[in-house]
Amino acid sequence: MLTDGRVVRSSVVSSQIALHAAYGGVVPELAARAHLEGLATVVDAALAPVPGGWDSIDAVAVTRGPGLAGCLIVGTMYASCAALGRGLPLVGVSHLAGHVYSAWLADPDLEPPYLALLVSGGHTECVVLREHGVAERLAATRDDAAGEAFDKVARLLGLEYPGGPAIQRVAAGGDPTRFPLPRTRIDGAFSFSGLKTAVRYVVRDLGAAALTRAGTPRDPRVVADIAASFQAAAVDQLVTGLAAAADRCGATTVAVVGGVAANRALREAVTARFAGLRVVVPPLDLCTDNAAMIAAAGWHRLRISGPDTPGFDVDPSLAECA
Ligand code: KG4
Ligand code: ZN
Repeated sequence: MLTDGRVVRSSVVSSQIALHAAYGGVVPELAARAHLEGLATVVDAALAPVPGGWDSIDAVAVTRGPGLAGCLIVGTMYASCAALGRGLPLVGVSHLAGHVYSAWLADPDLEPPYLALLVSGGHTECVVLREHGVAERLAATRDDAAGEAFDKVARLLGLEYPGGPAIQRVAAGGDPTRFPLPRTRIDGAFSFSGLKTAVRYVVRDLGAAALTRAGTPRDPRVVADIAASFQAAAVDQLVTGLAAAADRCGATTVAVVGGVAANRALREAVTARFAGLRVVVPPLDLCTDNAAMIAAAGWHRLRISGPDTPGFDVDPSLAECA
């Protein structure tokens, strides 16, 4: 719940990590059911610390896409009913815009234009927010998203889901130079599938004796060194791509947003590389998915474009980023 679009009064996240961990990734049907079961409790918890509860709410924002259709439908139906029931305006928001606006929430002095590196489980792109509601995508991934690569490499190494935090944890004790991995460079784009495949070959080339029956490296030292080498290559590609985009649009402010922005190595690399610019790296709870960023993006969208009609269609492949 936000006041004036920018002050976070409450933010409640119901994590589904434990639910999906057993499957090594998100199971769409389970995700939608868990949304349905948990949504009312989460909304109640978000309103509990707010004096007046629902009576103090002026508008409802909800994610319209991109994402899993079943989850988006649960959210938009709940929000539509709440808006109709309370006679409130409703606004459907792009999840990507939410991530871009997480930087605006994190830094009370930040105003567009700013360049955001948006790195999550489903997206890897450079987005310049030129003014509120007006964004341009300067680069995007050609194949896997950065977070997806972390998750897939973690699986190759026998680490738990989600892979990003697991890789970060073991990489801390590893040697990032032991396994030379490709630094993919493509003008105006990212690509992570080659890096992921290179890790697959490194693991294969360790030989059967070095692998468990599941095909993951036995030696924790090797796991740590591969994780550190992969993390270094991934961070290098992201920072280089962001630098190219910053040059292209003459950015004076850069932000790193999305779940992968929680990665310590990436946060440190961006802060070091762009020391001459203003750098915004939101706190961890604004990097990974949260409702506060959706409310912030919704506040601007409502102001600029007006409300949406309750019951509007979801868009699982929505590309809009403002
Ligand atoms: O933005 P997000 O919470 O959900 C999506 O919109 O996808 O991002 C989730 C992604 C996952 O792939 C997860 O492995 C990654 O963010 N992630 C990390 C870290 N924490 C989460 N990746 C690298 N290092 C981390 N510390
Ligand atoms: Zn996200």
